[in-house]
Amino acid sequence: MFAHLSNHQQHQQINWQPTIALRKERRTKITINSKKMKRVSNDKYMTTKCQTQNQAQFTPRGAKITGIGKAVPKKFITNDDLAKLVDTNDEWIRARTGIGKRHVISGEETLTSLAAEASLGALKMANIRAEDIDLIIVATSSPDDLFGSACLLQGAIGAKGALAYDLTAACSGFVVGLVNGMHYIRGGGFKNVLVVGADVLSRYVDWRDRGTCILFGDGCGAIVLTATDDVKDCSLLGFDMHSDGTQNHHLTAKVCGAKTGKVWESDAEAGERTAFENISMNGQDVFKFAVRAVPMTINASLKNANMTTDEIDHLVLHQANQRIIDAAAQRLSLGEDKVVSNIAEYGNTSAASVPLALCEAVESGKVKKGDVVAMAGFGAGLTWASCLIKW
Ligand code: ACO
Repeated sequence: MFAHLSNHQQHQQINWQPTIALRKERRTKITINSKKMKRVSNDKYMTTKCQTQNQAQFTPRGAKITGIGKAVPKKFITNDDLAKLVDTNDEWIRARTGIGKRHVISGEETLTSLAAEASLGALKMANIRAEDIDLIIVATSSPDDLFGSACLLQGAIGAKGALAYDLTAACSGFVVGLVNGMHYIRGGGFKNVLVVGADVLSRYVDWRDRGTCILFGDGCGAIVLTATDDVKDCSLLGFDMHSDGTQNHHLTAKVCGAKTGKVWESDAEAGERTAFENISMNGQDVFKFAVRAVPMTINASLKNANMTTDEIDHLVLHQANQRIIDAAAQRLSLGEDKVVSNIAEYGNTSAASVPLALCEAVESGKVKKGDVVAMAGFGAGLTWASCLIKW
């Protein structure tokens, strides 16, 4: 291939990136053949070959939401329970956040067990078997294993044929996962995608910090996306997604001792330094960011879908604070009747909150077939994302 080059040049070519080698190869052929027609036909051949492969493997499809499920831990902690741990009270928590209680894992419950329960519910509604799933995306910031929980979920439900991986985008994770899953189907190659939003942040809450311990709870929501032959048949109408790492410091749960990089002298020290710190949050800054970012991203999704706010039937936002939900709805001129809220029951369940709220709204009959739902997540990262779906 590089016969005209010196040994040294050949060596360099081999170590270089394939794209550069390919360009060189083409140039070599041009030089050797020096016949324009031959060069053109060669390029044509390569293009046609690529297109044929793409068409065979990646036939664009439509994508529909076909199932939804949820799971929450059995144990819950009321505001009065928390008032025994920190200087707070039910009245303050309800007035400032809208939260009445939060569910937390206990006993044998794990992120994977919640995800399995929610996923089986979604599969049942979609009327497909776990073996029919070819991709699992688990949006979470609190996996059961550092290497991810998606494979654990795959094993737990017996989705033998699926690729499974975790996606970390904090409280925006489910919306990001949903848009990802839709693209896998829309681009061709995948038929049934399971998207899960799950978090058990109670593991990282500092139960002595009244600024955060009142907010978080554990839970899970799952959705099944299925390919359709009609490419125009798509439940995803529009989306908009962002992140801003320069504002990361507002909401963190950093790995302990990450900066030292030394060899640990004992198992205890290793355990301590490789664990994660408790959640730390500048509540007011995140509040201001959310009230600004949510209407902006939903308006961007509407523009993307060529739609207006009048066409939104339901608003399902990340359940972080009732005041954020109300302020965003007001800025979007959406009435109370369009707002879906279950924060009083579950608090902030991070990546789980959007699918959990949507699932309850579907189960109660509030969200009906054909309704347009605007969803948005926001939080650590900082990240914020929204999408419009037709149920
Ligand atoms: N009980 C009683 N008093 C409290 C409590 C409490 N639990 N917490 C704070 N206070 C006090 C404060 O000390 C302060 O007292 P001071 O006026 O004497 O100084 C007063 O109440 C007001 O405190 P603020 O922090 O201003 O309270 P605020 O109204 O901002 O509410 C809250 C705090 C609920 C945290 C709010 O800022 C919030 O919801 N922020 C957004 C959180 C969020 O959206 N997170 C999303 C992402 S989560 C993720 O990504 C993982």
